[in-house]
Amino acid sequence: MSIPTPTPQDRFSFGMWTVNWTGQDQFGSAPRSPFDPVEILEKLAELGAWGITFHDDDLIPFGSSDDERAKIIERFKKGLADTGIVCEMVTTNTFSHPIFKDGAFTSNDRQVRRYGLRKVLRNVDLAAELGASTFVMWGGREGAEYDTSKDYNAALDRYAEGIDTVAGYIKSKGYGLRIGIEPKPNEPRGDILLPTVGHAIAFIDRLENGDIVGLNPEVGHEQMACLNYTAGIAQALWCGKLFHIDLNGQKSIKYDQDLAFGHGDLMSAFATVDLLENGFPNGGPKYDGPRHFDYKPSRTEDANGVWESAKANMTTYLILKERAQAFRADPEVKEALKTSKIDELAQPTLAADESLDSFLADKSVYEELDVDAVAARGFDFVRLNQIALEFLTGARG
Ligand code: GCO
Ligand code: MN
Ligand code: MN
Repeated sequence: MSIPTPTPQDRFSFGMWTVNWTGQDQFGSAPRSPFDPVEILEKLAELGAWGITFHDDDLIPFGSSDDERAKIIERFKKGLADTGIVCEMVTTNTFSHPIFKDGAFTSNDRQVRRYGLRKVLRNVDLAAELGASTFVMWGGREGAEYDTSKDYNAALDRYAEGIDTVAGYIKSKGYGLRIGIEPKPNEPRGDILLPTVGHAIAFIDRLENGDIVGLNPEVGHEQMACLNYTAGIAQALWCGKLFHIDLNGQKSIKYDQDLAFGHGDLMSAFATVDLLENGFPNGGPKYDGPRHFDYKPSRTEDANGVWESAKANMTTYLILKERAQAFRADPEVKEALKTSKIDELAQPTLAADESLDSFLADKSVYEELDVDAVAARGFDFVRLNQIALEFLTGARG
């Protein structure tokens, strides 16, 4: 296959903070300078991307006056119109400024919580003004280093209060926005509240305005917790809660690497793209949102390397998309899926007209079942997975 070229129809989007990461980390200063926001729009358009996302402070420096803020927004809007890039998601920086050192919605200090809520609500207005459809909330500082420092019950009450207030505000204004909570287990806090997709789904279930609250799961964040990203977004889809995604790469349990998509666990990336593009093998809910990348161009890269790495995310996604489609269309794969009984899992365990009484009375199910014979049957999962690998590597199809 030839190397694919991204187009706006692929709906690839990037966080402004991704390509604009200057490489400053805890051990060293910045090897790169930031780009001008409008230059980012131009570069992304040139590369075939479709959308941009940003934190308020990525675009409008913290502490800007209202006049400066308005000018920056006008200039950015013109950049969007000139390049055709869509602002599909907006998120709030509630983690950089020291006022948020103990969180924004769950800080023990009530003044901080009230300030944080105002910063977020102001940014909701901006998101709506720019026509975004998703408002991401990543609570990187909502957490603790020490269990003695946090009343977790009260913290979860305050977290729910904060998100319900934001969701209620969105509804009262009639904005076409949905909130995407982004889970992460740790970093920058020792432990972060809502650490995984599962925790966040259970939390959303208890909200008053939870109907417009869903998830923005990130590949690396689930993998930092040694969890399976594809299985995580699958459960979010099953709950009707996969509102947005952050694609990137991560190599096992360590600091948040934010590598380019596919540069971590490639088999897992293949499974993710297969699910996003082809859906579940037996049908069911499908993701139709943007293909959003939240990665960091490695600190070793210069300005040219930044754009090469942005392109790498999209190219890899398109390669995996083509490979996953070839995999699903192959007759031998269809046969292997059947051998592995993938279709049988879609059959309800009890028949439609079967009562519990007749099920309990059916001796063929239990008393008379040849348990050893059933146990001896193989599923051929390794063969199926090997065929997937052969498609992924281009050895087949
Ligand atoms: C991370 C996170 C953040 C969030 C972003 C959105 O790498 O820890 O991905 O980048 O996605 O701040 O609010
Ligand atoms: Mn991350
Ligand atoms: Mn993210």
